[in-house]
Amino acid sequence: MKQLIAANWKMYKTVAEAKSVACELTDLVPDLPENAEVAVFPPFTALAAVAEAFKGRAGFTLGAQDVYPAGEGAFTGEISPLMLLDAGCAYVLCGHSERRHVLGESDEFVGKKVAFSLEQGLAVVLCVGETLPQREAGDLSGVLRRQLESGLAGVPAGLEANRIVIAYEPVWAIGTGKVAGVAEIEQAHAIIRSYLEEFCPAIGRDVRILYGGSVKENNAGEIKRLVNVNGLLVGGASLQAGSFAQIIEA
Ligand code: 13P
Repeated sequence: MKQLIAANWKMYKTVAEAKSVACELTDLVPDLPENAEVAVFPPFTALAAVAEAFKGRAGFTLGAQDVYPAGEGAFTGEISPLMLLDAGCAYVLCGHSERRHVLGESDEFVGKKVAFSLEQGLAVVLCVGETLPQREAGDLSGVLRRQLESGLAGVPAGLEANRIVIAYEPVWAIGTGKVAGVAEIEQAHAIIRSYLEEFCPAIGRDVRILYGGSVKENNAGEIKRLVNVNGLLVGGASLQAGSFAQIIEA
């Protein structure tokens, strides 16, 4: 299975900035490492520019940061899976912690997004992770179980393993510079693997699990090589082509 090295640009970058970083990235990484695939998740307004920059570059794929679970309709401000496919996206993020905690998305709503996006042909990166109070209360497994059980409830039988990806992002490690320790990452990823095998028995062993939360050039290589870590989801350090290129090659 190829490692997925993903860049979540969140609410950063104009069209011109996105285009310039995407072009610089493909220049800096003329050949991807053999076992790696890259996905960039720019803001919606910059999807077309990044799609253009990645044209003809095998292994560089495009994703969107969110989606609404309907084909079309009176949903002001929302965007459908078909529109994302039309814009060149292969992936969509569902359930990022900023959407769960800042925008109040429920586990059930995230599950609807996952199911509908898969049905429409997108590959999904489902984000899960505990807050610091949840961790301190000893509820790591409980939180991961709830988020995965709801998030994966509508995964259709017969889905290929590479169409769904889990990103473990402990909320306390996002944007804080406080990366989870090696043992903490391995423990959470092992828990996630066991739930994947329970909820998606046919593919659970082969679904990629990414780590996200303060990944930088200097820790990416070590994290990538941990057991049950099949890639990275990078925020701040993906905003510059130079640092993201180093993370891809780490
Ligand atoms: P940082 O890498 O900035 O901590 O962000 C992680 C993240 O939220 C990626 O989705």
